[in-house]
Amino acid sequence: MNIFNNKNVLITGASSGIGKSFAYFLAKKKANLILVARNKKVLEEIKSDLLKTTEVTITVIEKDLSIIGSSQEIYNQLSESSITIDYLINNAGFGIWDDFLDVDYAKYKSMNDLNINSLTEMTYQFLPDIIKSKNGGLINLGSTGALVPVGGSAVYTASKAYVLHFTDAIHSEYANDTTKIMTLCPGATATNFSNVASDKKIDNSDITNLSEGYMTPDEVVQIAIESFVSNKIYVVPGRKNYITSVFMPRILTRHKLVSLVRSSWVKKINQYSNKGKKK
Ligand SMILES: NC(=O)c1ccc[n+]([C@@H]2O[C@H](COP(=O)([O-])OP(=O)(O)OC[C@H]3O[C@@H](n4cnc5c(N)ncnc54)[C@H](OP(=O)(O)O)[C@@H]3O)[C@@H](O)[C@H]2O)c1
Repeated sequence: MNIFNNKNVLITGASSGIGKSFAYFLAKKKANLILVARNKKVLEEIKSDLLKTTEVTITVIEKDLSIIGSSQEIYNQLSESSITIDYLINNAGFGIWDDFLDVDYAKYKSMNDLNINSLTEMTYQFLPDIIKSKNGGLINLGSTGALVPVGGSAVYTASKAYVLHFTDAIHSEYANDTTKIMTLCPGATATNFSNVASDKKIDNSDITNLSEGYMTPDEVVQIAIESFVSNKIYVVPGRKNYITSVFMPRILTRHKLVSLVRSSWVKKINQYSNKGKKK
C-alpha cells in the first residue's frame, strides 16, 4: 500500500541533499509536497523539474527556520491555502567541524536554533494535525553522531543526540497504527553537508572520491522510507554505519569509544589536509 498517495508532505531543507532526494522519491509516490528552505530559486527549479514528470501539487515556501516563530508563519501560510499536513520531514540542519573552542559561539547558537529549536517548534506546530490525519507521520533527521559523540564536532553531534532522544520520547507518547514517528540517523552522505560543516575548506567532490564509505542521498532516502513504512522507531542506513554507531557502543567502554572516534576523526581531517582542502 502506498501510504503517501495524495497526502500532504512537508519537507524542510528540500533545496539540497537528503531533503531534495525525499522530494523526488515522494513525488513518485504521488504525494503533494510542501518544500521549505531559504533558497527559493532552487526550490522553484526543483518544483518545475518535478512537475515535468508528476501531477502532484507542489508548494514552495522560502523560510529561514533558524528564526524562532517561523513554524507558526509556515502553519498560517498553509492554513490560508487550506493545506493540512499529513507527514512532516524535519530535515533542515547543518554541522560544524572543528574543535569546540575554535568556533565563534554565534555559529553554535545558529546551529542549535535550527537543529534543535526549529525542529522542536515544527513538531509542536504540526504534530496535532499529523495525529488527526489518521494516516500521517513524522521523520526527524538525526545522525550517527546522535549515537556516538564525535570529538571535532561536539555541539553538532550533541544537537543530534537531542533529536534522537526527543523523537524516541514522542514516539512512545504518540506513535500508533495511524501515526508513524521515526528518527533517521544517516552516516556520511554525499551532499553539500561537508562543504557547510567545514566552512568550504573541503570540497564535497573530493570527499566522495576520498571516502568510499559515503552513501548517496537517494540510498539513504530509500532505506528511510522502507523503515518508516515498517514503523521503525529509528534507522541507521548502511551496514558500516550500523556497526560503528550501534554495535561498537555495545562492546566498547565509553572512554574507549570516544577516543577511537576522535582518532579516526583526526586521521580523516589530516587526509583532507594532505589534499590541500582543509586549513
Ligand atoms: N550529509 C551527511 O553526511 C549527514 C549525516 C548525518 C546527518 N545529516 C543530516 O541530514 C540533514 C540534511 O543534510 P544534507 O546532508 O542533505 O545537507 P545539505 O545538502 O547541506 O542540505 C541542507 C538543507 O538544509 C537547508 N537549510 C540549512 N539552513 C537552513 C535554515 N536556516 N532554514 C531553512 N533551511 C535551511 C538547506 O537549504 P537552504 O540553504 O536553501 O536554506 C538545505 O536544503 C541535516 O539535518 C543533517 O544534519 C547529514
